[in-house]
Amino acid sequence: MEKIAVIGAGLMGHGIAQIFAGSGHAVTLVDLNQTVLDHALDGIRRNLSLMADNGIGSRDGIDAILDRITTTTRMAEGVAGADVVVEAVVEKLELKQTLFSKLDAVCPPSTILASNTSVMSITEIAAKSDGQDRIVGTHFWNPPYLIPLVEVVPGDNTASKTVEITWQLLNRVGKHPVKVKRDVPGFVANRLQHALWREAISIVENGIADAATVDECVKFGFGLRLPVLGPMENADLVGTDLTLAIHDYILRHIESAPAPSPLLKQLVAAGDLGFKSGQGFQAWSKDQVAASHRNLQMHLMTIVKQIAASEKEQT
Ligand code: NAI
Repeated sequence: MEKIAVIGAGLMGHGIAQIFAGSGHAVTLVDLNQTVLDHALDGIRRNLSLMADNGIGSRDGIDAILDRITTTTRMAEGVAGADVVVEAVVEKLELKQTLFSKLDAVCPPSTILASNTSVMSITEIAAKSDGQDRIVGTHFWNPPYLIPLVEVVPGDNTASKTVEITWQLLNRVGKHPVKVKRDVPGFVANRLQHALWREAISIVENGIADAATVDECVKFGFGLRLPVLGPMENADLVGTDLTLAIHDYILRHIESAPAPSPLLKQLVAAGDLGFKSGQGFQAWSKDQVAASHRNLQMHLMTIVKQIAASEKEQT
């Protein structure tokens, strides 16, 4: 069992620690802030309890999982003896570059150093480190213990062995890792996701539909197909000839701005930050915010159980 260190115990870091500890790995969780570390352990207990109450895992195993997690504010102590280090600190390039060069200096060459960056180039993150062959992207999705996908992304200088070992480890802990062929900002899934968000915001900005209607078009329309029919399979399903005819007509009408929308900038400047402030593209009461989080968790738990059941059927 590889020993895992996770750097950054915030939203993503604590969930990533939970995945590895839940699969029997010893995990050290590192953060600058002791309060964040304490909250991380409480958060993991809450996640595991909610999952157990909904038929994923059991309450009996929770203490054992938490016992496998040690916390520390000292990075060198946290990564000592680690086979794999997963970085999940804030999304700032310089911070990540400095952190990776420190990790590169203190960890033996056999230790894999992985970044959970959402969109940043792995090559750039590794730029200040000597051992770039063992630096790789592992892009988990929030909440990482419920969403199976992890994009495994090589930088320009990452060894194929690093990608392979990382993929195998993620597969063993029950994730659905995919190998991205090369390092581009946004990798695969965030490019797809933000192409959709750019168009969604543009539709609202141009008065074609309001924000709630845009979401209804996804939730009650093509979004229902997505879990079983991705865009590439769908294009083949309708036929490449029909796809060509549609693109020939529609693409020139679709948003292609290379910068964030003015409406989005206005909202942020006005402090309308969404759930955080109660107003974003739409108004949100505290109850609606809580209901949205709950709906998502319940939905994801149902899907996770379905995936587990269908995998069991296949074996
Ligand atoms: P967060 O702000 O919740 O947590 C970051 C943590 O890193 C904080 O607790 C902070 O104290 C700690 N930290 C900062 N510098 C540190 C250092 N030098 N050493 C140790 N700890 C340090 O952020 P979040 O949302 O968990 O994001 C972390 C990373 O994961 C970012 O790169 C983000 O882009 C990526 N990510 C975030 C997703 C999300 O939905 N929030 C989804 C996928 C990836």
